[in-house]
Amino acid sequence: MIIITASLMCASQLYLYRDVRSLLNAGIDMFHFDIMDGDFVENIALNIDLIKELRSVTHKKFDAHLMVRRPSKFISRLKDAGVNIIYFHIEAAEDPHYVIELIKREGLEAGLVINPETSLERIYPYIGQIDYLMFMTVQPGFAGQKFEHAVLHKIDQLREFRCGKNDSLKLVADGAINEKTLPQLAERGVHVFVGGSAGLFNQEGFNNNLEILKQRDLMVTSLEKK
Ligand code: DX5
Ligand code: ZN
Repeated sequence: MIIITASLMCASQLYLYRDVRSLLNAGIDMFHFDIMDGDFVENIALNIDLIKELRSVTHKKFDAHLMVRRPSKFISRLKDAGVNIIYFHIEAAEDPHYVIELIKREGLEAGLVINPETSLERIYPYIGQIDYLMFMTVQPGFAGQKFEHAVLHKIDQLREFRCGKNDSLKLVADGAINEKTLPQLAERGVHVFVGGSAGLFNQEGFNNNLEILKQRDLMVTSLEKK
């Protein structure tokens, strides 16, 4: 069964608590926090205090997607705030071995993120060390962009490389996830999906949207069995 993590930058910032409660009632699996520093990406979003406050509302897993230049500076505060998984970008100018080590030392799960135009080879040296690999399927920084189809080839490329190197590695996709894009990713082995403006935070409502996204995965699974 796939996992949907709700991207809270796409929620109403005014009625954030209301949206979180509704997502919990609808059966959301996890919550996704996009942390942006206005430097690594041309936007500023969410902060650690918000995570800390929301931690008192739910025991669901929290994942933090760091779109910042120096991810190592924030690891221990994110841990204290109640985050379970930290993803940082391979493009952030820091030694990934060092950052992964810091995340693990805090007892958290570690994930690397790769932008659509970054070559997959850059993550090869770290594949044995990480718990998650997140593919950006839009450019990082803003909600509401179009799906980057070329990323599908990158996921295929990973399948060839990875064979036997890290069997427990979980694949994540972030950006423009909806009923059309999810099946194409799920059939390539993506297991965790960031629900944003495209497929979760729209007029149709959380109950309906979650049901549709989960159904699309079941369709992929049953086709594979045939
Ligand atoms: C983009 C963020 C995503 C975003 C995806 O930089 O990382 O989490 O919210 O949402 P949509 O569905 O709008 O692409
Ligand atoms: Zn994100």
